[in-house]
Amino acid sequence: MTRLAGKVAIVTGGSSGIGRAIARLFAQEGARVVVADATEGVVEGGIPVVEAIRSDGHEGTFIRCDVAREAEVEGLFGETVARHGAVDILVNNAAIRAGKPLAETEEALWDSVIAVNLKGAFLCARAAVRQMLLQPVVDEARGRIVNISSQHGMIAAPEDFAYGVSKSGLVYMTRQIAADYGHQHIVCNAVAPGKILTGKTGRAIEPRWIAYSEARTPFPRLGTPLDVARAALFLASGEASFVNGHNLMVDGGWMAA
Ligand SMILES: NC(=O)c1ccc[n+]([C@@H]2O[C@H](COP(=O)([O-])OP(=O)(O)OC[C@H]3O[C@@H](n4cnc5c(N)ncnc54)[C@H](O)[C@@H]3O)[C@@H](O)[C@H]2O)c1
Repeated sequence: MTRLAGKVAIVTGGSSGIGRAIARLFAQEGARVVVADATEGVVEGGIPVVEAIRSDGHEGTFIRCDVAREAEVEGLFGETVARHGAVDILVNNAAIRAGKPLAETEEALWDSVIAVNLKGAFLCARAAVRQMLLQPVVDEARGRIVNISSQHGMIAAPEDFAYGVSKSGLVYMTRQIAADYGHQHIVCNAVAPGKILTGKTGRAIEPRWIAYSEARTPFPRLGTPLDVARAALFLASGEASFVNGHNLMVDGGWMAA
């Protein structure tokens, strides 16, 4: 299992859920994984991800980082380069939900969602591109960026105004980075998950949203974090040759139906 052998990968929001599955799979595939999260706590419960990675026999580091804060993001990349010498892969996964329609979205809620989901992805992508431009081309890339978007970046997110807008911005950002830096061998793609059951409670698993998701998904089940991690692995690896600016849906067909 060495599809990412020797690569240095930063996974934001990697403590829990989908990011956790990505961090573990990338480590299994030989990457030196840096989990960048605001907390080591696990939303769905369990041991910290770096402990899980190490008990799997692989290499992982946790760096506390609020992706909405420029100084912390700069610190994350500085520490990663000082420790590992490069940043080959960035997965922009950290995000928060708003859970409110437009008329109920207070300014502070809007600001917090945009700060994490959009500004955080911008700050991390900027730091990654600046570092990747200094790196040699290997397997046709100086580095690969994978943004975790959502089907709700393409169609409306019911009763989740700020979140949907932020995800649509992330889909745009994916294309913009691909267009601006593809000639310089920086590859940027996205994975758009459909409904993924991560083990978290609350709004995510309210019966009406589960029923809505099942009705929208033409597949015998909803998604798992590993479904998304496998797609992220493909896009983070040299196997995704000539794939750039793409938003890969991992949604059981939600967007097809
Ligand atoms: N779960 C789904 O059904 C689903 C569907 C579509 C898209 N997504 C996307 O997948 C990604 C992961 O979702 P999830 O369901 O695993 O989420 P989650 O809430 O389980 O985990 C999110 C992680 O991000 C971290 N985080 C939050 N704010 C942060 C900040 N400011 N700085 C650093 N880390 C921060 C959290 O601590 C947590 O570890 C998100 O981008 C989400 O929008 C999820």
